[in-house]
Amino acid sequence: MRANKILVHFNQVFCPNDKGYALYGEDMSHAMIIEDGYIAIKDGKILKIGSGNPDKSLIDEQTEIIDYSGKIATPGLIDCHTHLVYGDSRENEFAQKLAGVSYLDILKNGGGILSTVRATRSSSENVLYEKSKHLLDQMLVHGVTTVEAKSGYGLDWETEHKQLKVVKVLEENHVIDLVSTFMGAHAIPEEYKANPDAFVDLIIEEMLPKVKEEQLAEFCDIFCETGVFTPEQSYRLLNAAKALGFKLRIHADEIDSIGGVDVASQLETVSAEHLMKITDEGIEKLRDSHVIGNLLPATTFSLMENTYAPAKKMIEKGVAITLSTDSNPGSCPTANLQFVMQLGCFKMKLQPIQVLNAVTINAAYSVCREKVCGSFDEGKNADIAIFDAPNIDFIFYFFATNLVTDVYKNGRCVVANGAIVK
Ligand code: NIG
Ligand code: FE
Repeated sequence: MRANKILVHFNQVFCPNDKGYALYGEDMSHAMIIEDGYIAIKDGKILKIGSGNPDKSLIDEQTEIIDYSGKIATPGLIDCHTHLVYGDSRENEFAQKLAGVSYLDILKNGGGILSTVRATRSSSENVLYEKSKHLLDQMLVHGVTTVEAKSGYGLDWETEHKQLKVVKVLEENHVIDLVSTFMGAHAIPEEYKANPDAFVDLIIEEMLPKVKEEQLAEFCDIFCETGVFTPEQSYRLLNAAKALGFKLRIHADEIDSIGGVDVASQLETVSAEHLMKITDEGIEKLRDSHVIGNLLPATTFSLMENTYAPAKKMIEKGVAITLSTDSNPGSCPTANLQFVMQLGCFKMKLQPIQVLNAVTINAAYSVCREKVCGSFDEGKNADIAIFDAPNIDFIFYFFATNLVTDVYKNGRCVVANGAIVK
């Protein structure tokens, strides 16, 4: 078969192994790295990868050949945990944070998530759309081609609905592929402070069925944390979501270890997120139930804390991990997944290959998109991130700088020389 396009002479092409399941433990340390690599594309899909000059059988007079000497390629990066759609921003909390006020104390005093809830409730759908589109554009130029996006700054149906609709329209209009998660249980709204169980009932009885009926989300998520939702409430809500056919994820062990990991393993959620405070027992539970551990080191960095999730230990114990930004206006205002990847090395002491597997193939499994992205297997979408770097180690060593120059989405060049192609 002839290719429409062949990208040739990459210094290295990073090719994760797709074994038919996420990479657990030791498997995360392996990948194929092709020197002087090429990527052949046909009808927006990967046709073939190889080394040196592409085989003549791939080329005819219509085949476009593009030279990428001096650069490296990875599958398009996947940001598998973001709170993409929200009103306003929270730089006003930064001074409080610097003065040592804790994240949960800011929330307790009506700030934090709740201040973004007020701003999101009062923003029009159009304003939220433009703001989120801008954030997606920033992610795209950093090499990201698939993004998971959570609702959860409405905490009432009208606003949750508005956020989910923004994600739906962006999924139709933006080149980044979006995976929608309903997270109505992101905080307890002020109007339910005295009776959080009634809020859980409202989500179960009224919101979940509507989200399902309008097909606005594939996943359901909840923030299981001290002062937010208990493990019992988390189980109740996720179990109801499961019965309606939602796939599950859970924010667990972020600030305190209160049992979110137990809920994850009992319900076999696709992933458990954050896990900064996961215990040795919790690690074993995740491993035994094949729950993917989704780690967010830029949140630890942004919260100015020192306890990073024990990523290395988790891999040693046989868990599959991913890394993602957690992009949100409070605990992690960033669009830069490359920085998160670097924190994976600098703060979690992971190896570059482990990190690259985390943000490609494992991230694809964690958002159930493994059939279409996350590796360069034939027939997957030709989603490619191209870095101005001589080898894969360089993109970790040369930190806090956007090294992505070009991005391909479904075989089309959507970022060239660092700029979005209109
Ligand atoms: O993942 N943990 C809960 N939610 C977000 C924070 C959202 C916010 O502060 O606005 C998180 O860190
Ligand atoms: Fe989060």
